[in-house]
Amino acid sequence: MTSLKHIISSSQFDKQKILYLITVANEMEAIIQKGGSDMARHHILATLFYEPSTRTRLSFETAMLRLGGSIISETDINFSSAIKGEILQDTIRVVASYSDVIAIRSKHKGDAKLASEFSSVPIINGGDGIGEHPTQSLLDLFTIYKKYSHRIDKEKIKIAFIGDLKYGRTVHSLCQLLRLFENIEITFVAPDILQIPAEYATNPSDKFETILTNDIVQNSDILYMTRIQKERFQSLSEYEKVEDIFHINVEKVNLMKKDAILMHPFPRVKEIDFNVDKLPQAFYFEQIKNGLPIRMALIAYVLDLL
Ligand code: NCD
Repeated sequence: MTSLKHIISSSQFDKQKILYLITVANEMEAIIQKGGSDMARHHILATLFYEPSTRTRLSFETAMLRLGGSIISETDINFSSAIKGEILQDTIRVVASYSDVIAIRSKHKGDAKLASEFSSVPIINGGDGIGEHPTQSLLDLFTIYKKYSHRIDKEKIKIAFIGDLKYGRTVHSLCQLLRLFENIEITFVAPDILQIPAEYATNPSDKFETILTNDIVQNSDILYMTRIQKERFQSLSEYEKVEDIFHINVEKVNLMKKDAILMHPFPRVKEIDFNVDKLPQAFYFEQIKNGLPIRMALIAYVLDLL
């Protein structure tokens, strides 16, 4: 079992592996253009999604279909044996006996790791509560890499993460990947109660702010906005104190550098105005598109099809 290739945390990757996966994702883009391949024929992906999802689950499933494989899916915990009290370990043992790879999203940090300890097939973490979201961080990095390949490791690149950095698992995963590259300066912009957990802010050059100042907007190469994660708050009144704290509109985006980009893992709630979408800095739909080739690359990688 130890030789299985699970994807649990961004911390498991080194730079060489990241660059390799980016190369494979580029090849997958060409395969998508052609309509797909039959690389994963006779393989089955199981998606177990016990928290809401649109993009992540559908892009995993589309990725498997474009690779010529098949999918089985469980998306509503109310119809799952989990509701009868089945423990995750048992669910995983059962589903692993039907499938060749499992993508799982669950409510608790550490669930994907736990699943990997009981699975006879590779586990891919599609988000474990307030823990990590490594496949999102790979597609985010792929997006950044495509945009700034000429600058990465050469010139300084400034990124500001804005919003709910405490509960935002995409940020937890992405900032770990960015550490593998030279000269990336990170500013974490959040109110104190939503600031990034210390375990992810490991670089002495990291900066922390509570307000999104014009200075940050003007000088960043990447603004990475996130949603305030209402469902993770202990009380509604706590949420209401911070729900509108950050807001990006056309005037703000016009302050950004011409070739800077605005990213967001989505779903967006109120933090980015719709009329920002047409501006050249708005990169979130581009970012979403990159999920497909990255997840194709990851599925092919964990199934040893490359
Ligand atoms: C994110 C998630 O689920 O962590 N969405 C996603 O997968 N693209 C972000 C969020 O829910 O705010």
